[in-house]
Amino acid sequence: MRILLLENIHPVAKETLEKKGFAVDLLAHSPAPSEMKELFKNYEIVGIRSKTKITKEILENSRHLKAIGCFCIGTNQVDLIAAKKNGTIVFNAPHSNTRSVAELVLAEMIALSRQLGDRNNLAHQGTWLKSAKGSNEIRGKVLGIVGYGHIGSQVSILAEAFGLNVIFYDITKKLSLGNARQVESLDELLKESDFVSLHVPETIETKNMISKKQLSLMKASSYLINASRGSVVFIDDLVDVLKNKKISGCAIDVFPIEPASNNEKFSSPLQGLNNVILTPHIGGSTEEAQHSIGIEVAESLSRYLQVGSSAGAVNFPNIDVPRNIKSKRIVNIHKNQPGVLGMINGIISSEGANIDGQFLGTDEEIGYLVIDVHLDHVTNLYHKIKELEPSILTHVIS
Ligand code: NAI
Repeated sequence: MRILLLENIHPVAKETLEKKGFAVDLLAHSPAPSEMKELFKNYEIVGIRSKTKITKEILENSRHLKAIGCFCIGTNQVDLIAAKKNGTIVFNAPHSNTRSVAELVLAEMIALSRQLGDRNNLAHQGTWLKSAKGSNEIRGKVLGIVGYGHIGSQVSILAEAFGLNVIFYDITKKLSLGNARQVESLDELLKESDFVSLHVPETIETKNMISKKQLSLMKASSYLINASRGSVVFIDDLVDVLKNKKISGCAIDVFPIEPASNNEKFSSPLQGLNNVILTPHIGGSTEEAQHSIGIEVAESLSRYLQVGSSAGAVNFPNIDVPRNIKSKRIVNIHKNQPGVLGMINGIISSEGANIDGQFLGTDEEIGYLVIDVHLDHVTNLYHKIKELEPSILTHVIS
């Protein structure tokens, strides 16, 4: 089975897949739709990053496509619904850059409390501003983390190592790491914290979660850090409190509107304000994160192709099943409609095969079925299951 990796995916992905026995071809660029259609004829598995748009039309033209690996965090470059209808599983690497974001947040806490951004700018311009006024250690201060998920909890661990007292607010009850303490409300967190760091996803609830009212609860000596999503903070209100010195500074990595590429100009009402650190959405952009993404997605693809595990897929029911090497394994993706299992089991029985194991995951549209059968040759069985009307894609795990 040959795999095509596009867009200069980290070399570790190719290495990982080759070690698992796959043949891998590389292309540095993101192909145009017409080129993609031609290329995909020769591959059942493709790996992309964020530039390759895999549309419904491309998918309908590539019915045989078994899997797409998005070697990045986001998956909106792929029409996930069309992929599901096609039987094409899609994987990404949502947590490979967790630590990178957490480290940036720690750096920003120190940078803000020592006014590093402004002092650096002044020194470059020839101004020597040696003064302790307004500069503080972060040790002993209170860090309030909003959203105690993968990133928030990593920030918590690192911050405690720096001697901060950590409190956090999350909509679900979370196990506190170290001495961190979950608080009941966002308001309570905002009032108590010397640093507020946001680590929530973009949802209806988190849109403009930090606006005028919330900012007014923060201490005048406190700092806001947002490396989550641009929609979480209402920027005009943030500009107001900064200009009126109602908080002491902020570090913002994500913006409501971000340039689509490095060639576009970036503008924000936060530009030019004191003790405001602006970064171009680089929280997760490290060599290490790219390396981890390469491994994570390559591993997911090979577990799918060699074991039939859909764990971590963004558009399929997630199933992770142990491999019984004494059995032959068939994976069947079918339309979720009544009677499919009955049809498949009828075929298995007519082939005189015994079922060693059967694992099914469903959502509204599809069923994802892993069948272990005791049979020397599964070719007939495979063809009969594949040709059933509700079957979308069927393959044998060798
Ligand atoms: P996660 O899903 O592991 O954690 C999110 C946490 O927020 C969960 O514990 C959830 O219960 C909590 N939460 C959800 N809604 C909430 C609400 N209304 N109030 C309080 N808590 C709420 O996500 P992860 O991986 O930690 O990512 C967090 C954010 O960081 C995401 O927005 C993600 O897009 C962003 N991110 C930014 C990067 C960058 O380059 N700056 C890189 C990677 C992620």
